[in-house]
This record gives sequence, C-alpha cells and structure tokens, in this order.
Amino acid sequence: MFSNKDISRFANLETPFYYYDLNLLQNTLNACANAAKLYNFHVHYALKANFNPAVLKKVKAIGFGADCVSGGEVNRAIETGFNPKQVVFAGVGKSDKEINLALDQDIFCFNVESVQELEVINELAGKKGKIAKIAIRINPNVDAHTHHNITTGLDENKFGVNSWDLPKCVETLKVSEHLEFLGIHFHIGSQITNLDVYKNLCVRVNEFAIWFEERGFNVKILNVGGGLGIDYHNPEQQIPDFDAYFKIFSEFLEVKAGQEVHFELGRALVGQCASLISRVLYIKNGKKKNFVVLDAGMTELMRPALYQAYHKIENLSRGNQTTLKYDIVGPICESTDCFGKEVEQPESFRGDLYAIRSAGAYGEVMASKYNLRDEIRSVYSEEA
Ligand code: LLP
Repeated sequence: MFSNKDISRFANLETPFYYYDLNLLQNTLNACANAAKLYNFHVHYALKANFNPAVLKKVKAIGFGADCVSGGEVNRAIETGFNPKQVVFAGVGKSDKEINLALDQDIFCFNVESVQELEVINELAGKKGKIAKIAIRINPNVDAHTHHNITTGLDENKFGVNSWDLPKCVETLKVSEHLEFLGIHFHIGSQITNLDVYKNLCVRVNEFAIWFEERGFNVKILNVGGGLGIDYHNPEQQIPDFDAYFKIFSEFLEVKAGQEVHFELGRALVGQCASLISRVLYIKNGKKKNFVVLDAGMTELMRPALYQAYHKIENLSRGNQTTLKYDIVGPICESTDCFGKEVEQPESFRGDLYAIRSAGAYGEVMASKYNLRDEIRSVYSEEA
C-alpha cells in the first residue's frame, strides 16, 4: 500500500527502480525472530533472495546467520559484518576457489551435496591444515507441491545426496581426517504455501537423523532449509505466518537434547518489502489487445518471464476509473517480456506510475544486463 506521500515522491524520481519499505522489512524480521525464539530455532537468511546492502544490514542487526550459495555471497556476508561462525555455504557446484575462500574465512558449515564434494573439501582443508565442518545435504524425495522450476527435493532434482548414496558418504566421512560432521541439511523447494508439506519433511528428517546416529555419528544440527511462501495475490498480507510455520517443526521434528534446528529463509523475510516502480512509456491499442509498455522489463524482474510467476500490478496514478484489460509488457526484445496478460487496470496514459508488487525476493538480485540495460536502482523508505 503506497501513501500519497510515497506516490508524490516517486513522481520526481527517474524510473524504473526498486522501492524498499524498510519499516515493513524490520517488522517482518521482528516477527520471524520472535517466533523462532519461542522454540530456540536458529535462522540463517538465504542471501540469494536479496543481497541489497540495506536489506543485509537489517538482517544482520537482528542476529540471523547467513546462508550463502557462492564465494561472492560468502564474501558479501562477511563484509556486511555477519560473524563467520554464522555463515553456511550450500550449492551443488562449489568450485575449489570458493571452497578455499570459505575455509580461509573459517565459516560455520559447508552443506555438502555429493560424495565427491566431501573428498574435495577434505583434500583442500588438509592442504591448509584445517578441519572443515560439514553437514550432508540429503535429497529426501519429498514433493513440495510448488512450481516445477523451484522444487528441489525430489529424486529427479540435482540437489543433495540421494538416499542410496548415503552409505558411500558415511564411508568417506570415516576416512576423511579433515572433515567434522555436524549434521544433516534439507531444502525441498521454494514458495511453499501448503504447510503440510513440512510435516512430510519432518518425518524424513527424523528417519535420516536416526540413520546417521545408528552409524555412530552425532547429529548436532538439523537444518531444514527454507521455502516458506508469501501471498503474491495479496501483498497487503505483508507478514507471513511464521508462528504456524515454526510450530509444525516444533511438533513434528524429534529434537534430542543438544541438537540445534536451523532454518534458511529467504523469500518469506524479504518478498513483500519491495516493489518495482516503473512508468508507462506508451499505450498501444490493438484490435484484439491493449498494451501498456513500461520502462521496466524482464531485465529488472525476471520471475514472470522465467516461471510465469504472478505479481500484482497496480497503476499508482489513477483512481478506480473505467477499467480496461491490458497486457503489461516491458521494452525488451522478447515476447516473454510480459508482467501480466489481460490485467484489469484503470485506463492508463503515458507517464503513469506502475508498481509491480511483492518483488523483494529474487527480484533485484536476478536482474540482468541483457539489451545493455542500465543497472537497476534502489530507493528506500525513511529509516525505521
Ligand atoms: N536454502 C537453499 C539450499 C536454497 O536453495 C534456497 C532457495 C533457500 C534456502 C531459500 O529458499 P526461500 O526461503 O527463499 O524459498 N528464483 C526462484 C527461487 C529459487 C530458490 C532457490 N533456492 C524464484 O524467483 O521463485
């Protein structure tokens, strides 16, 4: 929801830009931190969702750790001031350079995704005379019931170690002097709105924890990943129900004394706090269709083009006058450069401001330089 003050401010700014509501971000972080505290759960923020410096500053200040997926993200987390003891590093293809960088930073844990990666980390840690702390990312074959392109925990996905490879992992761990086993890690997918999926995950986590314990391993960390979805259809539903989410894990996970439960949330923390603000360049009235051509496109927000993802679109310059149906498109030379088809909007004109909502997660960070576009800028609400 934008105030008249916000809209007058936007009117004086060059578009397109991401607008960050830092108060909302703060409230969302507070809600998550308070809910997690009830159960003594630990949250690592998934930087991949958004590594904007203003966002990271707030996430760091609330005390969450950092879940990184590249050497660049590990560096960014540490530059922002995250304690390396709260940095985890996941990813199916960590390069030697990235592993070395993370070893040099003495990060908390590598979430390891294959037997071969265990061998490589052991070797590289050995060369540095270090012990790398690791968790095994297990592919639990649990269906997240989300968009096909963002599901990660099925046998057919490339992520994690499949159950049939776990005996090999155990053999490798037993002979790897430079690895310390901390626990097990899971992440079954993103934008999960059916919380029952997490009950199935908990059942699998419990089974795998017992499996490792039976083989003589002390499972200190149960890392259940992230994935909690947001309501794209109703951006005014700003803060996800963290209480309901954590409650499921508190009820269905069997947590033993001394064990820690870790989460890696991205979208749920930052998704609603930003909108992409754009101006109408042209209106094209066709025979069959009307087009609103915006000055933002798939280069600024790729999700609709990549996943046919829905984002609510609002004309900020008009009231609720006559509505027309428009295809809302960008300026990029691709037919998929479309934010929405047949969207009802007030009759729109050149210069109108448009907001594409719920763009805080996987928005700015997935922007590209295609068509040699200008780098997308960010504008912030007044500080909380
Ligand atoms: N942990 C791991 C290992 C992950 O792969 C991910 C996301 C997360 C945590 C954070 O998930 P979240 O809480 O944000 O759902 N670009 C896609 C989403 C890709 C998610 C990749 N992994 C999108 O725009 O929908």
